Amino acid sequence: MTNRKERVSILDLQSMSDSNQRIVMLTCYDYPSARLAERAKIPIILVGDTLGMVVLGYDSTLPVTLEDMIHHGKAVRRGALKAHVVVDLPFGSYQSDSLKAMDSAVRIMKETECDSVKLEGASDQVLDAIQKLSTAGIPVMGHIGLTPQSINALGGFKLQGRTPRDAIRLLTEAQKLEDAGAYALVLECIPTALAAKITEVLNIPTIGIGAGPYTNGQVQVWHDIFGLYEDLKPRHSRVFSSIGEEMLSAIKQYITAVETGEFPNSRESFMLSKEVTKWVKDNLPGSEQSMKHAEQVLLETERGDN
Ligand code: KIV
Repeated sequence: MTNRKERVSILDLQSMSDSNQRIVMLTCYDYPSARLAERAKIPIILVGDTLGMVVLGYDSTLPVTLEDMIHHGKAVRRGALKAHVVVDLPFGSYQSDSLKAMDSAVRIMKETECDSVKLEGASDQVLDAIQKLSTAGIPVMGHIGLTPQSINALGGFKLQGRTPRDAIRLLTEAQKLEDAGAYALVLECIPTALAAKITEVLNIPTIGIGAGPYTNGQVQVWHDIFGLYEDLKPRHSRVFSSIGEEMLSAIKQYITAVETGEFPNSRESFMLSKEVTKWVKDNLPGSEQSMKHAEQVLLETERGDN
C-alpha cells in the first residue's frame, strides 16, 4: 500500500516546472515495469491507452476499454509507491458529455488509486468535462496535437500543427485547456517551435512526445525505449537499451537448454533425502522409464549434487 503523503503531487510537478527542472514521464502497464520505474525514481508514470497497441496487440488505441485501463492501472499502482500515476480515460468513456466523463474518471480514481487522469482533445465537451472533474477534485492532464483516439479523423499518425491555421488552433486549445483546469498538458507530434511557443505561453507544465526539447518534460512509451518492437520505431522515440534483442536471446537459450536436457539441473530441482528417494524408487509403481529417472535421481542424490 502506498503512503499517499510520499507520492509526487500535481503541486510537486508544477514546482518542478517552475524551477526549470525537467519532468520525466514514462508509460508503464504492469507491476514489474512500475517497480523498475519507481526504482529509477521516475516522478510520473502514465498508464497510457497505448497499452492497446504495445501490450494488447491492437492496431490503434480505439478498442481499449475502461476495464482494461482499470486492470492495468491497479497493477501499476501496486508497483509505484511514490511516483505520480496518471491513467488515460479510453476512447468512448468521456467524449459524449461530462457526466459520462465524471463516472469514468471516478471509477478509475477509486479502483486504481491513481493520482490523476488524462483526456485527449479540446472539444467543448472535453473542456466542460475537464472543468467539472477539476472542480470535483480530480486532477486532469490534457493531451493535444496527435491525439491517437481521433486517428480516423486525423487521417493517420501524422505531425500536427504544420500550417499557421493549425498552429493557432493548437495554441488556442492549449490555453483553453489550462483555463478549464488541466494541471499539465501532453503535446504529441507537433513542431518544435510551436511546442516551445505553447510552453512559453502556458503556466502549467507541458510534456512533449515528438514535440522537441523545449517543453517542460518528455514522455516516452516503455516498449520504445527498450526497442521491444523491431518493426515499430517512431521517429520521436529513442532506444536507450536494446532489451528486446536480449530477451530474444534469453528465450532461445531457454529453448536450447530444455531441448538438450541441460535445464533444469539438480541445483534447479528439489531433491529428497537418499532414504526417501530409495523408498520412492523401491515402493512407488511406475513405468520402466520412470524407474530409470528415479535411479538417475538416486545416483545424483548419492553423489551429493543437491
Ligand atoms: O497513451 C499513451 O501512451 C500516451 C502517450 C503517448 C503520451 O498518451
